[in-house]
Amino acid sequence: MEKLVITGGTRLKGEVVISGAKNAAVAILPATLLLKGVYTISNLPNISDVKITCDILQDLGAKITWKSRNEIVIDTREIDGNEAPIDKTSKFRASYYIIGAMLGRCGQIEVGLPGGCNLGSRPIDQHIKGFEALGAKVEVGQGKISAKAKKLVGTSIYMDVVSVGATINVMLASVLAEGTTTIDNAAKEPHIVDVANFLNTMGADIRGAGTDVIKINGVKSLKREGSYSIVPDQIEAGTFMAAAIATRGDILIKNCISEHLDCITAKILEIGGHVEDLGDTIRVWSNKRPTKANIKTLPYPGFPTDMQPQMGVVLSIADGTSIINESIWESRFQYTNELNNMGAHITAQGKTAVVEGVKELSGAPVYASDLRAGAALLIAGIVAKGTTELYNINHIDRGYEQIEEKFRKLGANILRITE
Ligand code: EPU
Repeated sequence: MEKLVITGGTRLKGEVVISGAKNAAVAILPATLLLKGVYTISNLPNISDVKITCDILQDLGAKITWKSRNEIVIDTREIDGNEAPIDKTSKFRASYYIIGAMLGRCGQIEVGLPGGCNLGSRPIDQHIKGFEALGAKVEVGQGKISAKAKKLVGTSIYMDVVSVGATINVMLASVLAEGTTTIDNAAKEPHIVDVANFLNTMGADIRGAGTDVIKINGVKSLKREGSYSIVPDQIEAGTFMAAAIATRGDILIKNCISEHLDCITAKILEIGGHVEDLGDTIRVWSNKRPTKANIKTLPYPGFPTDMQPQMGVVLSIADGTSIINESIWESRFQYTNELNNMGAHITAQGKTAVVEGVKELSGAPVYASDLRAGAALLIAGIVAKGTTELYNINHIDRGYEQIEEKFRKLGANILRITE
């Protein structure tokens, strides 16, 4: 078992380069199953979720060669399986994208019911509704989900909830369907646009990604070769923005798209931090204690749920009492118990947390319950007086590339210890 040992009290200063977006990568890799050729994917984050996705694709017959730390060549000419490994897919949330892509490619697939972060109930009814509307027969049972279609035919689908996963999955299943598919009430996150851009680069005809209505005109075939570079990770950039403010530091965040960060920037300005837009770099700094603010998480372009725990740490040391309303996931306040063990005063009940700002945090042993909780507790450890031992860091490794190296370059004192 590995843990991070953090000696806190550092003001972070320097430069950090943001990796490719996890939530785009875990969809674009399965999307290559729709193609029959050889493709280069670059700016691929080197994280465990990407490695598991590659593993699953290889089990289905794809050939993958790592050209460098962040670039692969994937050959999807021969895909022979129509049963994705149950053990691997059921541990991993984004394995649901295998269903949309394989329905498009082979008209048949069986995967383990998707697992992933423990954020409360994670239904996939909207994915299933989309597949069925396109003509697939979907069966769920005994820890598996299987989908079959003789033919997929474009149709209009109205999403009952705004869902990143369902929007991408229906998009994947529609690319090679007959006719036009319309997704109404679609999610608009940057990774939705990135997946659509990838598919369009490969010959698909998808319009409107990034708006509420996406239209996919089915095409007969896709290109046999191509290359694509994954968009920078909005949430990784946001995590370093939060870290800059929490530590009263000064960080140049490179390789990011500032428009994707507008909702986070607005909150940072509201609490007294500074953000300067320098093109594909932003500078984030602060030299005083943050002030209180209220946060409500919403689908993009609202404040992202995936930034709620990191900003929760910033508000835990703010001057005044803040209210956080989590409207996407029912169990995303688990980190607040750990933060309270470090001296924070947070009362979380249901969808609301009341955060009474304290002057300082102190180091303690803490446990990451999920990916973003882990990132938040790492920031808390860097802020806190004394030593923090952070456990369950496999959650962090799922989504952040070289996290402790990046923080160390900014001055943080972090050791990874194998016990
Ligand atoms: N929902 C349904 N039915 C569905 C699908 C979703 O009711 O069929 C509900 C969910 O229960 C939730 C809301 O709709 O309340 C939004 O869920 P969504 O489908 O958008 O989430 P997801 O696709 O499962 C992705 C990210 C999450 C991120 C959410 C919200 C990936 C692999 N995961 O999950 O990322 O929190 O969108 O933005 O893209 C993370 O990176 O830490 C993470 C958890």
